[in-house]
Amino acid sequence: MTGSPSIVFCAPAAARPEPWIGELSSLMPDARIEVWSEDARAADYAIVWTPPDAFYASQPKLKAVFNLGAGVDGLLRSTALPAGLPLIRLEDAGMAPLMVEYVLHAVLRHVRAFDRMETDRRERRWAPRWPSDRALHPIGIMGSGALGRPVAEALVAHGFPVSLWSRSVKEVDGARSYPGLETLPAFLAATRVLVCLLPLTAETEDIIDRQALDRLMPDAYVINVARGRHLVADDLLDAIRDGKVAGATLDVFREEPLPSAHPFWDEPRITITPHCSAMTQRSATLRQIADKIARLERDEPVSGIVDRQRGY
Ligand code: NAP
Ligand code: GLV
Repeated sequence: MTGSPSIVFCAPAAARPEPWIGELSSLMPDARIEVWSEDARAADYAIVWTPPDAFYASQPKLKAVFNLGAGVDGLLRSTALPAGLPLIRLEDAGMAPLMVEYVLHAVLRHVRAFDRMETDRRERRWAPRWPSDRALHPIGIMGSGALGRPVAEALVAHGFPVSLWSRSVKEVDGARSYPGLETLPAFLAATRVLVCLLPLTAETEDIIDRQALDRLMPDAYVINVARGRHLVADDLLDAIRDGKVAGATLDVFREEPLPSAHPFWDEPRITITPHCSAMTQRSATLRQIADKIARLERDEPVSGIVDRQRGY
């Protein structure tokens, strides 16, 4: 590192700042690191998760903002975010192995009928469920980025047919790539288990609607680990009730925490987890951010800069 950058940390709703500041200080002993308040000094870099709008006006000298997550939809929603200020998102940073575990667990729980055996056990029923051929459960992953790709690789390694839908063509051994909106109907028609790992953008909001669900293979299953707004809740509930979709595992919701009156809670074929499939990992995150700040200070390029036009 050539200079002594200053850093402001602002994640009021997400993280207790002390352990973050302590760990970042040991990675960057020369840096000046402060927790944000209205009186905090102007810093070169910010590390944030959904900061209040007042944050940006109080930090006029920022060279870049680091998001404490992979998804930047929350940041981009703020009208206070200055135009042209570079936003840098997390790229894996320890989340990929967690996401792989979560999706693999959800897929195997459904395909091997562990969910039905949990019900059998509660009802004292001895009913062996024979494993079905994995070829009968083609998996389609929407999004093949830092998280979608390792999930695809793990599912291929477990013997599942895997398709990937993204904007650009992807090469993943054993997986078929479907690039662009025009391939979406064919991708869905080849999918029985749908996994959503897309960023939330104007193009992807509500993308899992009744039309998309109807295009899936019969007895489909939905795993949404991206954002709640990708999925039209009533359309999923209708598709489950009329038998088009067998069930779903949902980690993300339009409103979080999921309100206690939400009909998802009353549908036993929907497994609900509280947005924890791949939580931000402090040490790996801070190592990634410290490395990128050092690069920026040396005028070197960094990856993970958000394209605001695309929304991710
Ligand atoms: P990423 O690396 O940016 O990958 C995004 C992928 O989506 C890329 O493959 C991209 O295609 C594709 N994509 C974007 N817009 C598209 C469109 N309109 N049509 C088709 N494909 C499109 O993102 P990531 O790090 O894998 O994270 C994905 C999302 O997961 C995040 O945005 C976040 O919302 C969510 N997430 C959730 C949790 C959780 O705990 N539940 C944790 C972390 C992340 P190209 O590659 O062709 O550009
Ligand atoms: C979590 O949801 C993230 O976007 O990192």
